[in-house]
Amino acid sequence: MKAAVFTTYGPPDVVHEADVDTPVPGPNQVLVRVHAATVTAADSAFRSGTPRYARLFAGLRRPKKSVLGTEFAGEVSAVGAAVTRYAVGDKVFGATDVGLGAHAEYVCVKEDGPLATLPNGLGYAEAATLVDGTALAFLRDHAKLHNGQSILINGASGSVGVQAVQFARYFGADITAVCSGAGAELVTRLGADRVIDYTRTDFTNEDRTYDVIFDVAGTSSFSRCRRLLRRGGRYLTTVPSLAIMVQAPWTAVLGSRRAVIAFTGLRPVAAKVKDLALVKELAEAGRIIPVIDQTVPLARVADAYRHLDRRGKRGTTVLDLR
Ligand SMILES: NC(=O)c1ccc[n+]([C@@H]2O[C@H](COP(=O)([O-])OP(=O)(O)OC[C@H]3O[C@@H](n4cnc5c(N)ncnc54)[C@H](OP(=O)(O)O)[C@@H]3O)[C@@H](O)[C@H]2O)c1
Repeated sequence: MKAAVFTTYGPPDVVHEADVDTPVPGPNQVLVRVHAATVTAADSAFRSGTPRYARLFAGLRRPKKSVLGTEFAGEVSAVGAAVTRYAVGDKVFGATDVGLGAHAEYVCVKEDGPLATLPNGLGYAEAATLVDGTALAFLRDHAKLHNGQSILINGASGSVGVQAVQFARYFGADITAVCSGAGAELVTRLGADRVIDYTRTDFTNEDRTYDVIFDVAGTSSFSRCRRLLRRGGRYLTTVPSLAIMVQAPWTAVLGSRRAVIAFTGLRPVAAKVKDLALVKELAEAGRIIPVIDQTVPLARVADAYRHLDRRGKRGTTVLDLR
């Protein structure tokens, strides 16, 4: 089968199309013919090997896994002997959990992992963009966001950000979105009440206060945002730093305002399965919509990574593997 392969850390060009062995499903696995998979900031980090401490898990000298990619959508093409929930021909979407490997024509996943039939009315590329549960887990489980609260989302037009805006609207919050001007119309359409263009205004210098600040871009800090948080407010970020690692535990016990970091890819499989079911339900009801930034064919996979490094993202980049 064809796959997007890399064998050394580096710039986008280290990833290229190549032939690799097609995986064979185990007894409890399904083999999916992947039609679309997301290319995310996490894939970029694995590809470049930065931050360098990530190499402790990804491989010290060279990457342990040569095919990246987590979220996918496609068609079941074979099933293991003990599989009961899926049959050949089922259209599915899901995640490879921590195993990566979705940037390939075929991937094997467990039938009881984060996998579900495609939401009615959505295509493969659209469905793949909805699999990542980062925004939902942060806003519901860590921010405890609820009706009537106010939230600022920094990095609102990117892959996680467009979902965060939509889930914040779903939870009934008043939303301030921070992104560059290119994403302003998009985030407004998705539910933002106001937009701050970070290329013109530093939101940390403003006087408005919030119950929740969700920094997806990782360009602010708890220290700079603390005065913008209301009493009991929470600052959350998807991007780890030494400071937040120290601040999170002590503010959880002593702080009137909390700093929170979480790693949603590491949450229990059962939680991911439940969230995927909710996402499917909300997508079918039109409560959340997929936002595809651009679709890139496998032969030009390096372009997908180049795009992620540029300013002006509007949703999720998708790799087309049909
Ligand atoms: N901890 C976790 O569990 C977890 C899970 C998923 C992702 N992540 C991390 O979360 C981060 C974001 O992921 P993503 O997929 O959403 O990335 P993305 O698609 O590249 O989006 C990044 C967003 O940040 C914006 N941005 C860039 N510089 C900014 C600045 N100075 N101020 C405000 N906004 C700025 C971008 O806007 P422009 O394009 O207009 O510049 C874009 O909207 C990545 O670092 C990823 O590794 C962590």
